[in-house]
Amino acid sequence: MCGIVGYIGPKQAAPLLLEALEKLEYRGYDSAGLAILGGNGLSVCKAKGRLSVLFDWTEGGATMPGTAGIGHTRWATHGEPSDVNSHPHLSHSGRVAVVHNGIVENYAELREFLTEHGYEFQSDTDTEIVAQLVDFYYHGDPVKAVRDAESLLSGSYALGIAFAAHPDLLIAVRKDSPLILGLGEGENFIASDIPALLKHTREIVRLDERELAVLTRAGVSVYDRFGDPVEKAPEHIAWDVSAAEKGGYAHFMLKEIMEQPTAIRNTISPRIKDGEIDLGLVHITEEVIRAIDKINIVACGSASYVGMTSQYMLSKMLHVPVTVELASEFRYSDPVVDEKTLTIVISQSGETLDTLFALREAKRRGAHIISVVNVVGSAIANESEDVLYTWAGPEIAVATTKAYSTQLAVMYLIALHFARLRGTLSDAALSEAVAALEALPALVEEMLGKREQMQYLASLFFNLRDIFFIGRNIDYALCLEGSLKLKEISYIHSEAYAAGELKHGTISLIEPGTLVIALCTHAPLREKMVSNIREVKARGAVVIAFTDENDASVPAVADHVIALPSCAPLVLPSMPLIPLQLFAYYVALLKGCDIDKPRNLAKSVTVE
Ligand code: G6P
Repeated sequence: MCGIVGYIGPKQAAPLLLEALEKLEYRGYDSAGLAILGGNGLSVCKAKGRLSVLFDWTEGGATMPGTAGIGHTRWATHGEPSDVNSHPHLSHSGRVAVVHNGIVENYAELREFLTEHGYEFQSDTDTEIVAQLVDFYYHGDPVKAVRDAESLLSGSYALGIAFAAHPDLLIAVRKDSPLILGLGEGENFIASDIPALLKHTREIVRLDERELAVLTRAGVSVYDRFGDPVEKAPEHIAWDVSAAEKGGYAHFMLKEIMEQPTAIRNTISPRIKDGEIDLGLVHITEEVIRAIDKINIVACGSASYVGMTSQYMLSKMLHVPVTVELASEFRYSDPVVDEKTLTIVISQSGETLDTLFALREAKRRGAHIISVVNVVGSAIANESEDVLYTWAGPEIAVATTKAYSTQLAVMYLIALHFARLRGTLSDAALSEAVAALEALPALVEEMLGKREQMQYLASLFFNLRDIFFIGRNIDYALCLEGSLKLKEISYIHSEAYAAGELKHGTISLIEPGTLVIALCTHAPLREKMVSNIREVKARGAVVIAFTDENDASVPAVADHVIALPSCAPLVLPSMPLIPLQLFAYYVALLKGCDIDKPRNLAKSVTVE
């Protein structure tokens, strides 16, 4: 997501910060900015677009003299990419400048509070609230002001803060978003990630949850959440820059797989308040939601498989017909949609051309449109009636992982919110489901613990030519994504089949040694899956099966078992995909494929 840098020392800060920001470009961004502490307090320059725009505007930093400052590359979450929404944000008095990575969940309440106290806001961001709140609490003591403000924030934040009246210090504080300090000789640094620092120092300190650091030229002091000093031993970084960009992972895909618990938490938790779901829909009213008599989901690729997985869940929970259509087919299909139809458009990039045109077609016919999009301000987001962002952060690897998981998480939120409005779930069932949703990030974390097992299984099967995936109901939809993931990056041919269809053709392809991956997570049909496993085993297949950790029937017939934690049916679909992503990753790794940039594929498909 966003990139933060900060510098205090003897050198000119602006050119140094611009260079440091370049090293964070891999994180993805849509705008950038600097706040420099010079002779006249704080000067700020920020610009939508590439860093080169900021570089040109500041003549490489020369127009912003000063030896301390903070900088930022923004990846929009609240408010679309624009000069005014870019960071740093200044408080209205001009006394405080803030850069932020994360999401302040209670920003609307805080904004109201500050407005009542006469504060005026320039931007649509959650971050501006932080600058104003620190300003509100500032009465001469910068550390106290930051602490008082920070204690009111809920959500995730890494913050770099500069005060006009204190040119000799910077403050850094974090919760649930990364932030590190770099230690130099007579100079010190703040950064979101190590690559920004490597040119200047290899001695770093990682801030722990809610630790606050005060940086001066002479040194760095760190305090815990109670204000007590903390001794932090510096860590020496021996990595090279390219390894550092990936957080020490060999590929962005693996990094993004591992980021899923955080990404899902960022997507879900701002939308659950006191046990109730608040989607923050602006245009689609409750009356419209109650009146809908059909939902159709349009998307491409993995996003369409999110749609297929959600189809089972939505129709069961809401008692309405739900269809899923590939955007490229939908747009030419003379679709039957009208003002009682809700079209849900799913797209990571928000720019996929077929999906955009499908959206327009549905809109033209009167459908209400909600989109589920990762990139703020993208075409699909802009043209939708309402948009629900997946706050997954930029996804760099072509094969989607964290965007897929967060799209699924948004679909759970939609299902529960709509079920409440339409009265199709009891209050007790709703509270149970919301609690299950809140527990999801921890479960996903647990699934990442399957990494070694999947690596081992990949080592057994990476040289196969064909792999089959079978499942029923939601498991079938998950098979489609598991199979796509594998073929996208490993170039192994694979097919996903509804297990009940095996007998109608596919079973003729099974021969001794064929690998069949069987998803048996959907409990009502597990016994049917046991029969299907027996059928393929009888023809010589080797079976890797996914089932509940308490189930004994599948382990009795499969060769290898991936045991999934018992969890609420609502969130179950999020479980198997994590090991399947890891399996695809390790197979591709063993085959020596270009994992982050598979041949012939593009991240964003903006042509028909
Ligand atoms: C490409 C990507 C897929 C993605 C699909 C749809 O094929 O490689 O990962 O699922 O486009 O992209 P979107 O940005 O609309 O989700």
